[in-house]
Amino acid sequence: MNTATVPSPSTRSTPTPRRRHVLRHLAAKPFVFAVCMLPFVWLLFGALTDSLGANPAEALIRGTGDWVLRGLCVTLAVTPLRQLTGRPELARYRRMLGLFTFFYLVLHFLSYAWLDMGFDPQAIARDIPKRPFALVGFAAFLLMLPLAATSFNRAIKALGAKRWKALHKLVYAIAVLALLHFFWMRAGKNDFAEVAVYAAIIAVLLGWRVVHAVRARRITARRTVAK
Ligand code: HEM
Repeated sequence: MNTATVPSPSTRSTPTPRRRHVLRHLAAKPFVFAVCMLPFVWLLFGALTDSLGANPAEALIRGTGDWVLRGLCVTLAVTPLRQLTGRPELARYRRMLGLFTFFYLVLHFLSYAWLDMGFDPQAIARDIPKRPFALVGFAAFLLMLPLAATSFNRAIKALGAKRWKALHKLVYAIAVLALLHFFWMRAGKNDFAEVAVYAAIIAVLLGWRVVHAVRARRITARRTVAK
């Protein structure tokens, strides 16, 4: 036997362990969680130190509202990003991002209910239908409740994947209502610059899904014809 060709255990090349992708790193989820908490910590700090400006109530309502809209955009961006980059790990962050969006929506609604309405249920029930922008915002809030309630594994199991997926398509209606809420609110001030930016982002994110779904349907149809 020619031992010269057999590498000794010390010289045998061991396969270099593949590095874990940053999205799969153990610290990645806590990191994203901490980043999502930053706006809350910032607003809380501002409220406690009285540094939210001349109108703290308005700053809190608007500040939380802005983060709901940003959260919706980021959550809606996960699927297109996953498809573009071919990184399925991105899907691991969607639930957390969606729940944080809901968290900021609850804060937004509570800020309004407390600071604008003094937690008076009758005043809230009178005010919401009177102001169309508040009405569409409230509709988005109501539609988000079942999504938040069914975002846990047990609910997904109980509903079944197909029904769960169908229910979570509500997020598209929520995005449109949220945009309408923002548009209506800013229309009073004739200030549409930011609305246009969010409208463009949401149009791209929803448009991507439409294009993807049409393509997938065409491929399935072609395969069925070829069979
Ligand atoms: C998905 C749902 C919602 C989203 C995305 C959202 C988002 C926003 C945004 C982006 C703003 C403007 C912030 C700015 O000017 O920088 C805002 C303002 C506001 N929202 Fe919402 N909102 C939602 C639901 C609600 C609900 C349920 C209510 C209460 C019924 C509400 C009441 C208000 C009020 C009172 C203002 C401030 C109006 C003003 O200062 O004149 N919103 N919201």
